[in-house]
Amino acid sequence: MSADQLRPDRIPSHVAIIMDGNGRWAEAQGLERNEGHRAGIEAVRAVIRGANDLGIRYLTLYAFSSENWGRPQDEVRELMQLLDRYLVEEIDEVMEKGIRIRAIGRLDRLPPGTRKEVENATRKTAGNDAMDLVFALSYGGRAEIVQAARRIARDAAAGEVDPHAIDEKLFASYLYEPEVPDPDLLIRTGSESRVSNFLLWQIAYTEIYTTERMWPDFREEHLVEAVRNYQARERRFGKTSAQVSSPASTSVGTSGSEDPA
Ligand code: FPP
Repeated sequence: MSADQLRPDRIPSHVAIIMDGNGRWAEAQGLERNEGHRAGIEAVRAVIRGANDLGIRYLTLYAFSSENWGRPQDEVRELMQLLDRYLVEEIDEVMEKGIRIRAIGRLDRLPPGTRKEVENATRKTAGNDAMDLVFALSYGGRAEIVQAARRIARDAAAGEVDPHAIDEKLFASYLYEPEVPDPDLLIRTGSESRVSNFLLWQIAYTEIYTTERMWPDFREEHLVEAVRNYQARERRFGKTSAQVSSPASTSVGTSGSEDPA
């Protein structure tokens, strides 16, 4: 499958990826799990290149979940080191491509050195606008929603937010990166079919694509295949097929209807 078989007018704006299968990839070859994470870096590079070439505007990578802190210490350490190294070694190419790096999650839980590299990368690339690369780090979807609720409650208690004015749009503005639109396509490698606490609010109407391929084996052509699969779908956002295909029906989106209470 090559990129020129894709419809340029239907490239997803935002692709999010659950990069699963590093450990199984390594174990299948008699290697230690950390070798799978190291090999996963090549897939990260390939998919960023591929997304950039396809004109995907936002790419979010689930690099470390809030639950991953519970993994063996040496694995957590290896993942943090890989991230540090990635941010240092790739920064020139990231700048050259005009990529803006963002990070979502409980960054305060990261080791100080990693946090510093993340902050450097986000600051240095803040003016870039060709593509946004969002790393989900120490990230949990439920925690993101809870922190948004807590901040809204605080602002309401301070009289800065009218509780009656709280709707989906206002709520979303309290999430980690409100400027980043909801994903159009969520890819999960490693043959599992679950969302694992990833972008729970944002994936309400996201198309989900799963593949048995393990993350270290994922390359540009597999991203192209996922996009081709996405392009063959009809996104209905809760409406009927006739409604979305009729030219009169332009208001495709979530209802926005609110609880009158
Ligand atoms: C899941 O595989 C993957 C992770 C927990 C981490 C993903 C990290 C990388 C690809 C490398 C570092 C990333 C960046 C952005 C520099 P798993 O270990 O759960 O695999 P398994 O399900 O086979 O055990």
